[in-house]
Amino acid sequence: MSNRKMITAALPYANGPVHIGHLAGVYIPADVYARFQRRLGKDVAFICGSDEHGIPITIRAKKEGVTPQDIVDKYHEIIKKSFADLGISFDEYSRTTSKKHYETSQDFFKTLYEKGKFTEEVSEQYFDEQANEFLADRYIVGTCPNCGNENAYGDQCEKCGSTLSPSELINPKSMLSGNVPVLKATKNWYLPLNEYESFLNEWIIEGHKDDWKPNVYGQVKSWLNDGLKPRAMTRDLNWGVPVPLPGAEGKVLYVWFDAPIGYISFTKEWAEKNGKDWKDYWQSEGSDLVHFIGKDNIVFHCIIFPSMMKAHGDYIMPKNVPAFEFLNLENDKISTSRNWAVWAHEYVEDFPGQQDVLRYALLSSAPETKDNNFTWKDFQTKNNSELVGIFGNFINRVAVLINKNFDGVIPEGDINAPELEEIGFKATEIKNYLENYEFRNALTSFMNLARFGNKYLADEEPWKTIKTDLEKTKNILFIGAQIAVALGNLAEPFLPFTAQKIYDIFNVKQMNWNDIENSKVLIETGHKINVAPLLFSQIEDDVIEAQIQKLEQTKQNNKKTNPNATPMKEQINFDDFTKIDLRTATIIEAEKVEKADKLLKLTVDTGVDVRTVVSGIAESFTPEEVIGKQVMILLNLAPRKIRGIESQGMLLLTTKSDGKLSFVTPDDQVENGVEIG
Ligand code: MF3
Ligand code: ZN
Repeated sequence: MSNRKMITAALPYANGPVHIGHLAGVYIPADVYARFQRRLGKDVAFICGSDEHGIPITIRAKKEGVTPQDIVDKYHEIIKKSFADLGISFDEYSRTTSKKHYETSQDFFKTLYEKGKFTEEVSEQYFDEQANEFLADRYIVGTCPNCGNENAYGDQCEKCGSTLSPSELINPKSMLSGNVPVLKATKNWYLPLNEYESFLNEWIIEGHKDDWKPNVYGQVKSWLNDGLKPRAMTRDLNWGVPVPLPGAEGKVLYVWFDAPIGYISFTKEWAEKNGKDWKDYWQSEGSDLVHFIGKDNIVFHCIIFPSMMKAHGDYIMPKNVPAFEFLNLENDKISTSRNWAVWAHEYVEDFPGQQDVLRYALLSSAPETKDNNFTWKDFQTKNNSELVGIFGNFINRVAVLINKNFDGVIPEGDINAPELEEIGFKATEIKNYLENYEFRNALTSFMNLARFGNKYLADEEPWKTIKTDLEKTKNILFIGAQIAVALGNLAEPFLPFTAQKIYDIFNVKQMNWNDIENSKVLIETGHKINVAPLLFSQIEDDVIEAQIQKLEQTKQNNKKTNPNATPMKEQINFDDFTKIDLRTATIIEAEKVEKADKLLKLTVDTGVDVRTVVSGIAESFTPEEVIGKQVMILLNLAPRKIRGIESQGMLLLTTKSDGKLSFVTPDDQVENGVEIG
């Protein structure tokens, strides 16, 4: 068995905060595993970071009317903080826009290029002539050839669920401009995955039949049965890591090429700061590489990334890829766009100091082998009956009784008592489960030790025997204290905040896992302990009701009357609104702008002054049509140069269903320069 563990958790897209689905299906199990491996004394690198490239980011930026960089800056911070707040113990949490990552992913690409591992292919891709951009599949909408849905995307129809390619869409339209895109030839670099089939078959299908999870193994097998095709590793986009070759301007690395290399880049960043050699973790047989991911990432981590590493030649292959299924919320699919989620950062705010309750609830319904479900009622029951009722209750009774009856000093007891056998037994049982990625079983086994302790106290009733049999009471509490300290130690991978509280109560240091397996006495007679604060507290019905209400509200908000309406932008406050100076105005002159099909140069009487506004309305109106029109103007917008003309302000427009623009005007004629609000 190797002494090094290179543990990765899928890089979350920095296009939104993380929710309980991410936590239950990747980050909490990965954290339990990493913490546990550290306790075994392994040399662990637990690495993650934000995935800041890719179409989800640019789509979000377009929606919010900001740049992709703005989006990733904002969400990287939110995500990073949520992980820290929930005790996810990454050794490094970085981001794919880091300098080191650009270097590392470009070097990786160049190595493959120089070794002749890519094929160059020219293909026809949809291009938006007006936006002057190639269109990612997601940026093309049209009619689904399978079900007739008019809003299918170039890669997928969300109505019938079929996977599409842009060329299959009927009446394709660009989402950037609404125009019909044209096909244009472009050259890209492909990794011929078909050449790696026999390697993958031998390594996974023959080599990992028994130790990889059936869901992972099954998916890989079915991909390989269908046969692999060359896949483009570069894209015609302007957001991503630039392709480091001459003549590749306007092309970036495919996000699924650069993102997994992020694991390596971030390990380098961590290693540099900590006096380590990153190669010991990625290029040495003494290291076990383990990827924690959700099931939608299986092909990338079991087929594409391994093929990339194989092509490179210097890298080890993952030992295991424990992929999780999905978590539902209140029996409905979690969805960022429908806001159907419990957000990590909101939980931390709503339940201060109760991070371990969420960790516990999510681990006990982790979607290990099939999709699972989170409900707030369940969450409440798990807290109230299990954490408060069993675990917390046991620890508290032991500490309180020792403080009350023995001045907080551990009394004498029988170090050969049979009850103490249970400690080592459970430590080994949990170890075996965790080594096998069976997190729910491990958690149950842990809880069973708390149950065992609780029952022991209930049966022995030290609060009664104290009046009749002092020696017996001493023994009961000696044994109780051993179990309590063991529980603290065994809780740490799952419930790190609670473990720390238990160490503080019993005034002990954390132990290695092997020592817990092998010793029965974890806290000596005569050891002084501290007073015991409550570990967990009851969660009342009104708190749970409030969360359920919040979800109800989301359901209401999701009832769109217009399915094409984009979701509401981020809320602003009244002060933000009062900064906006909107006025009535009248267009008094209009002319075309030379060599700009879309633009009209307008002279506008705003009541306050007469000014020039350049407006992109020439495809909807002739100059003659707009002269004399009363309009609304955003008066205090900072002036901008458009085609050399300074445009002072912006006219309010909306889009009709045929794509033509329409002015927003007052119902009745009013004077110019009247405020709107
Ligand atoms: N951002 C991807 C997702 O959320 C995961 C990337 S994992 C990596 O599905 F390996 F590519 F980094
Ligand atoms: Zn369809």
